[in-house]
Amino acid sequence: MKILVTGGLGFIGSNFIRHVLATQADAQIVNLDIQTYAGNPENLKDIAGDKRYFWVQADITDPALVGRAMSGADAVVHFAAESHVDRSILDPGPFLKTNVIGTQVLLDAARLEKIKKFIHVSTDEVYGSIPGKRRSTEKDGLFPNSPYAASKAASDCLARAAFVTHQLPVIITRASNNFGPYQYPEKALPLMITNFFEGKTYPLYGDGLNVRDWLYVKDHVAALAYILKEGTPGEIYNIGGDTSLKNKELVLKVREIMKIPPSLVARVPDRPGHDRRYALNDSKLRKLGFEFKHSFEEALFQTIEWYKTHESWWQPLKKSGGYAAYYQKQYKKGTAPFSKLA
Ligand code: NAD
Ligand code: TYD
Repeated sequence: MKILVTGGLGFIGSNFIRHVLATQADAQIVNLDIQTYAGNPENLKDIAGDKRYFWVQADITDPALVGRAMSGADAVVHFAAESHVDRSILDPGPFLKTNVIGTQVLLDAARLEKIKKFIHVSTDEVYGSIPGKRRSTEKDGLFPNSPYAASKAASDCLARAAFVTHQLPVIITRASNNFGPYQYPEKALPLMITNFFEGKTYPLYGDGLNVRDWLYVKDHVAALAYILKEGTPGEIYNIGGDTSLKNKELVLKVREIMKIPPSLVARVPDRPGHDRRYALNDSKLRKLGFEFKHSFEEALFQTIEWYKTHESWWQPLKKSGGYAAYYQKQYKKGTAPFSKLA
């Protein structure tokens, strides 16, 4: 099977490509990725020489290049996106361009190419903040609260519209917060782990009681490969982690494993519009026959080990600046991280 993967130089996309090449001998992969700050060829250094893999450096909003890259593909697995909530609050423009327009360009090309399955990789954030003990099901409405979540919700609607209007065989997946190797160190867990290795404080937003459902990236990519085979076009599948933790609880778990004192956690002003809780019901995926393989505790331990042994991967990313570094400076100065917005 020839698969066009978009955003394969990023965190989840690179883990997906590695998984498919390791588990499907007949797979051929074209990776369409423009290489933004979050795209890193180092993420796929180990498979760069594999003849079944080819990287096309192009923008998913460019119809001509997308058409060429998709030519002859059987399936599309669409990861490419601007993916960090804090960046979307400071500057939503690139989120609208890539996540919304880029998705439509891919859907149009897929129709012309007669793609047999199009997996649109989305997020639990489109459901909005979920109060109480409820878990979002695939039938729930979309109530996105950040510009990032709103742009993903818009792309989900476009993907659904392509199925209804043109019978394009689209499947939408909505996963919870991923963690694992190759995650850019601006997201909560890699920022926390790498800051702790550097002896720096981790900035905990607000009261630290926001709840996230943590999903190991290796389970996520295995679920996507499973859905690519077994999923039904037109359907939505939630992919949850079954590990709901308050941010404070997550920090404590990491501190305990890494033996970090409480003084390395700094409470900072909250993220504007910070969703209180995400939680997914993924019984539909389990009924389809998918089995999650990794326990949260073991995966968290493995992830910390990975960052410990891959300093040469993450150190240049932190040195190159970016938003994590910008926030760090604000915290050091004792100013609010979002003073720029005021
Ligand atoms: P990431 O930010 O690590 O990687 C995004 C990749 O997309 C990068 O390689 C980047 O170069 C590429 N890209 C961005 N704009 C592009 C463009 N215009 N043209 C071509 N390539 C472009 O993201 P991630 O964390 O791996 O997330 C991948 C997908 O999974 C996203 O769609 C995201 O919404 C979704 N998702 C992420 C999570 C999570 O916890 N990280 C959870 C659920 C869903
Ligand atoms: P993040 O990794 O940005 O994912 P998302 O906002 O998409 O869920 O953040 C996960 C949680 O951690 C979220 O509740 C915000 C919080 N957080 C902090 O407390 N400090 C930080 O420096 C970051 C990046 C996140």
